[in-house]
Amino acid sequence: MKTYWKALLAASLLGGTAVAVITSVSAQSGVTIRLACGTVGSQQALCKSAADKWAAKTGNKVEVLPNVASSNERLALFQQQLSAGSSDVDIYQIENIWPGLLADYFVDMKDYVPESTIKEFFPSMIESDTVDGKLVDLPWYGDAGLLYYRKDLLEKYGYKTPPTTWSQLTTMATKIQAGERKANPNFWGYVWQGAAYEGLTCDALEWVFSHGGGTIVDKAGNITINNPRAAAALEMAAKWVGTISPKGVTTYAEEESRGVWQAGNAAFMRNWPYAFPLGNGDTSPIKGKFDVTVLPKGPGSAGRNAATFGGHSLAVNRFSKNAKVAADLVVYLTSAEVQKERAIVGGYNPSRPAIYKDADVLKASPFLGRLFGVFTNAVVRPTTVTATKYPRVSEAFWNTANSVLTGKTKAAPALKALEEELTRIKGAKW
Ligand code: GLC
Repeated sequence: MKTYWKALLAASLLGGTAVAVITSVSAQSGVTIRLACGTVGSQQALCKSAADKWAAKTGNKVEVLPNVASSNERLALFQQQLSAGSSDVDIYQIENIWPGLLADYFVDMKDYVPESTIKEFFPSMIESDTVDGKLVDLPWYGDAGLLYYRKDLLEKYGYKTPPTTWSQLTTMATKIQAGERKANPNFWGYVWQGAAYEGLTCDALEWVFSHGGGTIVDKAGNITINNPRAAAALEMAAKWVGTISPKGVTTYAEEESRGVWQAGNAAFMRNWPYAFPLGNGDTSPIKGKFDVTVLPKGPGSAGRNAATFGGHSLAVNRFSKNAKVAADLVVYLTSAEVQKERAIVGGYNPSRPAIYKDADVLKASPFLGRLFGVFTNAVVRPTTVTATKYPRVSEAFWNTANSVLTGKTKAAPALKALEEELTRIKGAKW
C-alpha cells in the first residue's frame, strides 16, 4: 500500500497523469477482485499482467476469470449473472454497444472517479458510455475493422499498392492465391469473419455501408436494409466463399481467420487491430511481411471506405461487495500507463487521445497514428436507435448474411425477409 502511494506521488511530481488517481485510491487492501476480461488474442494475458501489477501495488488480490470469446454469448452470460444479482464478478469487460442494455447493473463511475480523470478520455466515448446521466463504465479501447495485406506477396505479383476497391481485392486475391497454391495447397486469397455471430454483423455492415447500402436501420429508426446495394454487397461476399475464401469461412470468428493468416496461408485478412502485434511476434511466420490499411470501397460513386466501430470498456458490478476497490482497479487498468503498454504490446487503440502522440506507441503500432481517421470516422452499428432490441436486430442480420454466404438463399429475397422480421421486432416503436 505504502509503495503504491509513493509511486503515485513520484509520478505526479514527475508530471505524470497519476494525480487524479490518488484521490480515488482505495484505503482497503487484502480484498480479492474478480475480473471478467475478454479472451480474444492477447487479451487475457495483458489483462492479468496489468491487474497483477495493481494487486502488488495495493496489497489486494485479482482473479482473472475464464470467459467465452463470442461477443453475443458473453452478453447473454453477463445478462444472466447480473439479472440474478450475482456478486461473483466485480468487474466486467463490456462492449461499447452494451451500456444501454446493462446500465442498471453497474455503478456510476462518476461516484468513484474525479472529473479531471474522466476528461482525459475521448469525450465521444464518455458520451456513448453515459446512459441517463450515469457513467456506466470507463472506456478501455476502441476498435475498427482493418484490411491486413501481405506486402511481400503484393510485390511478388506486381502490385504496388493494396486494393482500394473490393473488386480490386478480389482480382488480386485470385491471382496471388493461384500463384501461391502451386507450392502451398492451403493458401487462400482472403479470410474474414463469416460465422453467425456479432462479428459477422460487423463485417457485413462494412460490405453494405461501403456499397452505399446504409446501416441496416438508419438514425431515425427506419429499416433500410432491403435495398439493391446491400444485396450486391452480400452477393459479392457470397462469391468469395469457396473461391478466394475457404468454405469454412462461414464458421470463422476473429481467431480462426487470424489462425490462417498468421500461419502465412492468406494474402488478405479483415480483422481488428489486435492482430497487428501478434502477426509481428517473434515466432510469427509473417513477421515484418504485412501491413494494414482501410478496407476497400464498393463500386461507383456510392462506394466508400467503411470500418465498423467497436471497442470495450470496464464496468463495476453494482452488486459487488467491493465496488470501491474494484473501481480503483478500473481506474488503474484504464490509466495512461497501462493503456500505453496495451497499445504497444497488444495493438489496442487507447481511449485516451494523448497516447496517440506517444513516440513509443507510434513506433510499435504505426497504424494507430496513420489510420487515426479510420477510427474516428468508423461506422456505428444501429445500437442507439434500436436500444434494447439491438441484440435481436443484429442476430436477424447476421443470420441473414450467413444464409446468403452459405448459399441457402439469394441476397434479394433474404433482405426482403429480413426487412419483414425487423419490422416485427420493431413493433410500434424501437
Ligand atoms: C471486437 C469489437 C467488438 C465487436 C466484436 C465482434 O471485439 O471490439 O465491438 O462486437 O469484435 O466479434
